[in-house]
Amino acid sequence: MIEGHLHEWANLLVRWIHFITGVAWIGASFYFNWLENNLNRQSPQKKGIAGHLWAVHGGGFYHLEKFKTGPSKLPPELHWFKWEAYTTWLSGITLLIVIYYLNARLFLIDPSVRDLSPAEAVIIAAVSVLGSWFVYDLLCRSPLRKSAALLGVTIAGYLVLLAWFLSEVFSGRGAYIHIGAAMGTMMVGNVFFVIIPSQKELVRAIAEKRPLDPAVSTNGLLRSTHNNYFTLPVLFIMVSNHFPSTYGHHWNWAVLLVISLIAVAVRHYYNVRRIVKSLWWVLPAAFLAVLSVMWWTAPQLKPPETVHAGVQQDILPVVKERCTVCHSATPTQRGFTSPPVGLALDTPEQVETNADRIYQATVVTRTMPIGNLTGMTEEERDLISWWHAARNPDGHRP
Ligand code: HEC
Repeated sequence: MIEGHLHEWANLLVRWIHFITGVAWIGASFYFNWLENNLNRQSPQKKGIAGHLWAVHGGGFYHLEKFKTGPSKLPPELHWFKWEAYTTWLSGITLLIVIYYLNARLFLIDPSVRDLSPAEAVIIAAVSVLGSWFVYDLLCRSPLRKSAALLGVTIAGYLVLLAWFLSEVFSGRGAYIHIGAAMGTMMVGNVFFVIIPSQKELVRAIAEKRPLDPAVSTNGLLRSTHNNYFTLPVLFIMVSNHFPSTYGHHWNWAVLLVISLIAVAVRHYYNVRRIVKSLWWVLPAAFLAVLSVMWWTAPQLKPPETVHAGVQQDILPVVKERCTVCHSATPTQRGFTSPPVGLALDTPEQVETNADRIYQATVVTRTMPIGNLTGMTEEERDLISWWHAARNPDGHRP
């Protein structure tokens, strides 16, 4: 009991920190990106200034200037933006451990996808997250770097491969979060290993009054551009974890691919809309594309395969055996102190009221019982399917 409570609070507090630092990191990064895109660069500008910008905010009027290269003398105090990235990563990894690795059987493993042992699952998970940084970094240093487009497509190709691979070894939910974690790790790796060192080099060059090496800032800029395009897909992955119609879909990796392409197109639109005026169609097209994904992932009524109509369709014993260890006002499953997502299935009325959700989770997305921890059989899933069919005769094939 108390262990479950502590686990819940560890989850809640680390998640809260992860969320706060993530907002601070991505918020600052969006803000600087916005500044770059909105600077008034028209001449005349002050000597050594590339552009400037006026803004009004809660604090009053602000006037910012961007230097062409840098000030001739370093200011006494210079603000860096790095800790929010590092803390987001550290809290994210802690969350992965708290939720997925300490409870691998529950959230990471799905025996119907692959019957891994927790140790195997955690090793694959860790290698896919950390290894992705090395693959990505190697690609960025390879001759591919000469063409930003080719490099971008190769990185995207690697991520699709990773998504497909993870969907073949983990539960849908576990696969999604690990693609997000791998991309997040690439982003933080970029900050830690490339962007901050290149900023330090700029600062050193100014302090030592020597010319800046353009290669240093080009490399930093390339990595920041990647981070910029990664942002929206990564944020989608983080929230999608509570929406089984995406990760629970049969083609979950492809759903993620389509959503990510839409997200990247939207990001691109916002990046260039001041310069490229002909892209007005991107937002409406993205909206239509999201509608098609909604349609694609819509719950489908599947005809049951093994049990036949007319057999007894009482699912209460099944629910009692396979669900209520967790979905009960008083769960008995270790680590649970209250029914997950507030869904208790103790009484026949509760089962009736939640018929669609039960059907959806056990037959369509098959995300429940989570990790099939309670060993639900195919016959039982078919029974639920028939039970549901009997309640919605129009929606099912006989
Ligand atoms: C081992 C514990 C456990 C068992 C057993 C279990 N669930 Fe769940 N269930 C969860 C958890 C945890 C969540 C919350 C997942 C999240 O955070 O999105 C959940 C969420 C749900 C949801 C809402 C989200 C979704 O996936 O649609 C439904 C519906 C659901 N369960 C139905 C069932 C049914 C029906 C059964 C029995 C066949 C069952 N669960 C068995 C732990 C369990």
